[in-house]
Amino acid sequence: MTPHEQNTVLLASNRGPVTFTLAEDGELIVRRGGGGLVSGLSNVAAGADAPPGMLWICSALSDGDRRAVRLSPGGRVDRSGYETGPLRMLDIPPATFHRAYNAIANSTLWFVHHLLYNTPNSPRFDGLFRREWESYRAYNETFAAALAEEAAPGARVMVQDYHLTLVPGMLRATRPDLRVSHFSHTPWAPPDYFSLLPGDIGAEVLSGVLGADHAGFLAERWASAFMDCCESQLGAKVDRACRTVTHDGRTTRVGVHPLGVDGHELWVRASEPDVESHVAALRAQTGDRQVIVRIDRTELSKNIVRGLMAYREFLAGHPEWHGRVVHLAFAYPSRHDLPEYREYTAAVQRYAKEIEDEFGTDDWDPLVLNVDDDYARSLAAYRIADVLLVNPIRDGMNLVAKEGPILSPRAALVLSREAGAAAELGGDALLVNPYDVSGTADALHAALVMPEAERMARAVRLSAAATALPPRKWFADQLTALSG
Ligand code: F6P
Repeated sequence: MTPHEQNTVLLASNRGPVTFTLAEDGELIVRRGGGGLVSGLSNVAAGADAPPGMLWICSALSDGDRRAVRLSPGGRVDRSGYETGPLRMLDIPPATFHRAYNAIANSTLWFVHHLLYNTPNSPRFDGLFRREWESYRAYNETFAAALAEEAAPGARVMVQDYHLTLVPGMLRATRPDLRVSHFSHTPWAPPDYFSLLPGDIGAEVLSGVLGADHAGFLAERWASAFMDCCESQLGAKVDRACRTVTHDGRTTRVGVHPLGVDGHELWVRASEPDVESHVAALRAQTGDRQVIVRIDRTELSKNIVRGLMAYREFLAGHPEWHGRVVHLAFAYPSRHDLPEYREYTAAVQRYAKEIEDEFGTDDWDPLVLNVDDDYARSLAAYRIADVLLVNPIRDGMNLVAKEGPILSPRAALVLSREAGAAAELGGDALLVNPYDVSGTADALHAALVMPEAERMARAVRLSAAATALPPRKWFADQLTALSG
């Protein structure tokens, strides 16, 4: 058997399970990669019950990663210390990567699926956009070529997310023997919004995904939107009852796999000493006041500014809560290569400062904003939460909404109806329209005055729903979907 014949399950994602930084002395330092997709998949791709013959292919994201690839035969980077299973990193030229990742994936496809455009000014699809699109194509081609080169005959290939929408179609053309899935970790735009994209580009994205045998989504709503787009933009034949899309003589099955959390693993991690000491430190800050927690990447879709506006309106309307409540808002850095994200982070900081100035007193800080990333501290915050605020404009799933109720048995959940998680958690959360600041302020109040027994009963049900499809089962279900 040649080495490649062993690769019977391949996983492809932009971000990999580890990333490298270059120390001043030129030494490479390896760290765990960030983000929800990676943390969900890392534990699955390694360890005893990882599928045999699995290879993970990801992109080099930084100079450190590129250096690591160049030092590794066949791009098989050494993950010393991190058990991820075999990993191949692709050394994509930085300019191509930048245009594919920042300009197309994060500034175009992400904006389309999360409905983020300020349409009087953007988007503008011009000559520059076309050149950026060429890079997105080239980046997808690099992945498709690596997968085609590595995959054993008849292997199963699981392609992840909006960065790689063209890969399934490209693989279909070169390796029709492979069984391919594509999974979207984002929402999918409704047809009217998707059609902001130039027609040929939208068609390329849809046909790219339809190159897969199985197209997976986190919620029924996103799967339906995808099928609607295929029907209206491509004229594809959609069977909603069977969840299939037929186009160009091929049929793609559409699946809904609402990724959840491994409750036991989360509890074990959240009981470790570093988390315990953060619990003590946070308690020293909040005292015995009620605690409203939010934890997000500083991401436009997370709606952090409106969340702060709602807290301000709540404080303004409820002086009886002054001195009795603290809002812990953790907004850790994300995508700082994009100016919109840097401006958004500044807006969050400005707004937080205004709240502190308006309501803070010598012995009460109404708001604690942290903009640095500290996973152990986030777990500690969940543990002391009385209310968890999750109010995205739109979100594929939102795992914060699922992790919180597992770690805080008495937290009430204020949840945006636009998060994928609302489909499973809506019955026991206080659902809000994310644009409705006053409605969110009212929901914060309702959550705070909810009797403890009711909060606890809801949290038990929320926690059960949140753990219904842990990452291992989520992954196994998709592999099974490719077996039939
Ligand atoms: O929501 C889609 C997603 O891929 C998540 O799984 C992940 O947390 C996030 O986007 C990562 O974004 P980035 O890799 O740009 O930091």
